[in-house]
Amino acid sequence: LAPRAFAALPPLAKKDKYKVGFAQTESNNPWRLAETKSMQDEAAKLGHQLVYTDAAGSSAKQASDVNSMIAQGVDAIFLPPREDKPLVPVILAARDAGIPVFLIDRDVDHTMAKPGQDYVTFIGSDFINEGNRIAEWVVKNANGKSKIIELEGTTGSSPANDRKKGFDDIIAKHSEFKIVASQSGDFARDKGRQVAETLLQAHPEADIIYAHNDEMALGAIAALEAAGKTPGKDVLIVSIDGEKDGVQAIVDGKIGAICGCSPLFGPKAFATMADYAAGKQIPPFIKNDDDFYDGTNAKDKISTAF
Ligand code: AHR
Repeated sequence: LAPRAFAALPPLAKKDKYKVGFAQTESNNPWRLAETKSMQDEAAKLGHQLVYTDAAGSSAKQASDVNSMIAQGVDAIFLPPREDKPLVPVILAARDAGIPVFLIDRDVDHTMAKPGQDYVTFIGSDFINEGNRIAEWVVKNANGKSKIIELEGTTGSSPANDRKKGFDDIIAKHSEFKIVASQSGDFARDKGRQVAETLLQAHPEADIIYAHNDEMALGAIAALEAAGKTPGKDVLIVSIDGEKDGVQAIVDGKIGAICGCSPLFGPKAFATMADYAAGKQIPPFIKNDDDFYDGTNAKDKISTAF
């Protein structure tokens, strides 16, 4: 069968129960597990059938997972694209097969595919703003510390691109600070630990670490402790997410501040799908509000962390 070409987004019929795909990127950290649980819980609550796949950290596998959802004839697809370019062809293939795609948590490169045209919308955080907020906190609270190691997220992912831009842009306006090294730790604790270890050896003068997520910050804490340094004292650490272990590290004085990033997409994702089926106008970006944690509130807020 030749694919049906849609000039615009495919419609979604109004039904009580849908068969919906959710193609997760990986399941190697509490943020991902909380996101999956939120999607599964909401689908179960509403009585929808959820076709769940886990790409185990491979964009190629995630693309083939989406292709198999298209072949199974799901009604709609929720996708957090692991990287911002390799998933575009399958998003367009789903659109051409008449299946609306909702991007959650990560976006794609808008020069290749556009919300409102190729996929319904992007539901997620403003990652540039997250980088801005954490950099502004560093500028105010560094107390003379100034040499920064940046642990980047997955190369080519929208949160890694934008958290870097948001942070680096603010830091560039303050000449007393310098980013001495910036490298990917793939959003993973062990990779973050390994990269922090290597970069700390190459730059023993570094006294600030900015990690694009809590997992890598926790890896950096392990690297610092193994090197005989005291996290939070010798080196100021900041990160993004707000997972329990991260917020606990603020309480313990090891992390200075965390900009939150909620993984709890289920209610918003399914409500947006229902609105779309009802013919409501869906904005191209549905923004999640991010929390912020530091020494002033971490103890009070830890019970709400995931
Ligand atoms: O896309 C959001 C990021 O991906 C989270 O910050 C991170 O922990 C996750 O793996």
